[in-house]
Amino acid sequence: MNLSFSARIEGAQILCDIGSDTALVGPVLCFSLIAAPRVVSGGVLQRRLAGYGEVALPDIAAGQNHRLVLAYDNPDYSPKNRAWLPLGAYLRVGKTAHTLPAGFDLGVHLAPLPAAAPLPAQTLPLIPPPQDWQPSGGEWEFSALRPDPAYDGADALARRMGLAPLTQPDGQAAHPVIDPSLPSEGYRLTISQSGLTIAVGGTAGAHYAAITLLTLRSLMGGKLPCGTITDAPRFGWRGQHLDCARHFFSVDFILRLLDVMALLKLNRLHWHFADDEAFRLELNCYPDLARKTSLRGEGQLMPAVFGGGICSGGSYSRADVARILAHAEALHIQVLPEIEIPAHSHALIKAIPGLRDPGDNGEEMSVQGYLDNIVNPAMPATWDILPAIMDEVASLFPMPIVHLGCDEAPHGAWAGSPAVRALMAREGLGTWADVQGWMMEKLAAHLAARGIRAAAWEEAAKGKNGGIGHGALLFSWTGQGPGVAAARAGYDVVMCPAPHAYFDLAHSADIDDWGARWAGVLPLDNTLNWDPIPADSPDIAPRVLGVQGCFWGEFTTADSQAEPMIAPRIFGLACKGWEQKGATTPAQLRAVIPHYAPLFAAMNWAMAPF
Ligand code: ACM
Repeated sequence: MNLSFSARIEGAQILCDIGSDTALVGPVLCFSLIAAPRVVSGGVLQRRLAGYGEVALPDIAAGQNHRLVLAYDNPDYSPKNRAWLPLGAYLRVGKTAHTLPAGFDLGVHLAPLPAAAPLPAQTLPLIPPPQDWQPSGGEWEFSALRPDPAYDGADALARRMGLAPLTQPDGQAAHPVIDPSLPSEGYRLTISQSGLTIAVGGTAGAHYAAITLLTLRSLMGGKLPCGTITDAPRFGWRGQHLDCARHFFSVDFILRLLDVMALLKLNRLHWHFADDEAFRLELNCYPDLARKTSLRGEGQLMPAVFGGGICSGGSYSRADVARILAHAEALHIQVLPEIEIPAHSHALIKAIPGLRDPGDNGEEMSVQGYLDNIVNPAMPATWDILPAIMDEVASLFPMPIVHLGCDEAPHGAWAGSPAVRALMAREGLGTWADVQGWMMEKLAAHLAARGIRAAAWEEAAKGKNGGIGHGALLFSWTGQGPGVAAARAGYDVVMCPAPHAYFDLAHSADIDDWGARWAGVLPLDNTLNWDPIPADSPDIAPRVLGVQGCFWGEFTTADSQAEPMIAPRIFGLACKGWEQKGATTPAQLRAVIPHYAPLFAAMNWAMAPF
């Protein structure tokens, strides 16, 4: 059977054409949109879960084409670009599912990057730029360093990239020398015609010195300019988040992302492996969690929400976790695990009984369109299941912080639950936010008793008793305002404001672009034109631990689609995390990035045009 499928945007509608060289009786089109679909004409919506839909089509005669017209159910949504078209579409005929062609081009359209023009004299091709560079004139030919354990991570990175090894037995003897005046991640490289010396604040500083040398060697043809680089980051938290729940990113992709991060001196991976659509970490305490939710599609507990096709997905074993952690550690990157609760928990609730109140008749719907995605804090099972999951996750990760999610509880959450109403009366809680704050506080207390710090999205500061408490680390994502407020309420914060740091947003407003739009579009320049410590809020400086880029996977159907969403915008993020306020202008960033093209090519990582 030869099937054809195409989809395109026309105004607020999506025109889909389905054809076959064989007569089809009772075909059903299965697909996923970014949000809940509605049928305008040409079929009957017979099943929907969040953005996933199944539309019964009329019989299609051999050689005929059928037109189905879809729209977004929410009248405020209209399709903005190709990522808003039906993803992972397939056709069910009788009991058999047939893959359809994608129907349109998937992903960012790539174009050659601007050619690398010579940089102004005395400018180093380094992102993030060093804090201080004092050229002294002349050049020195550099090929390799004498091996030292502190340089192993950068050397392994060079070898993975297919570059000449960074360390060789006959390399330059420049072992790192501790200089207590430097911060632990700081270093000072003194390059002269007689060689090189490396002073460091600690082993991380030595690693970053080696990354700088690796970069300069590659981008300056081995001829290093003489002078002194004195460098250290502005912030200790320089993160990148990856949503592996909506799309299952392979371990190989995660390892390559760690390499990209390392090249840009980022040091935290926020691993989002659980959400409404899947819980991908294989846990001994609840093996059913990953077993039942890691695959989505035909015959699975979860249908193909967010573009999975007939059946797709995967889970991360303990061995996978160990591989990722070892790779990260060698690159001085710590991995923050996230268990997404209480909302965004549809998969968790489906896989393990007991997390919902059977008497709950509420109709609250999450922004993604789920009716049952929030764990109920008044169910006794909740307090067995969540602690067991937290304890096992914490035991797998060396970082003594566990992120507990807490974003986007649906409006009116728990209002239909008699058990929560009784809890509210007992605990003196007046609103759903109070209930959420009460729940998060108890979860954070459980972690704190085990020496683990809780982290959460900004909403965890809500609630009448100040929310989660326990010195939790909060992530400000809708903008910087919630981070400022949380900092003033005594929380440490990481700034990841969507308009500047959400790399799933489209680069432009072009209908032929690719990406989300809820927080506007995010061209490269916008990654730079903000300050993690807003000018009008200098008082929060001691509370701002750093910055983070986020990548959400709702419309990712292949790992490679994420590459040009992340690059080049991750360069801007790296500048925000490392350099002092406002140091690099968009023009300077645009001038340096093309010099990195060979390094990204060596990592086989596609970059979007800019
Ligand atoms: C988020 O983007 N919902 C944290």
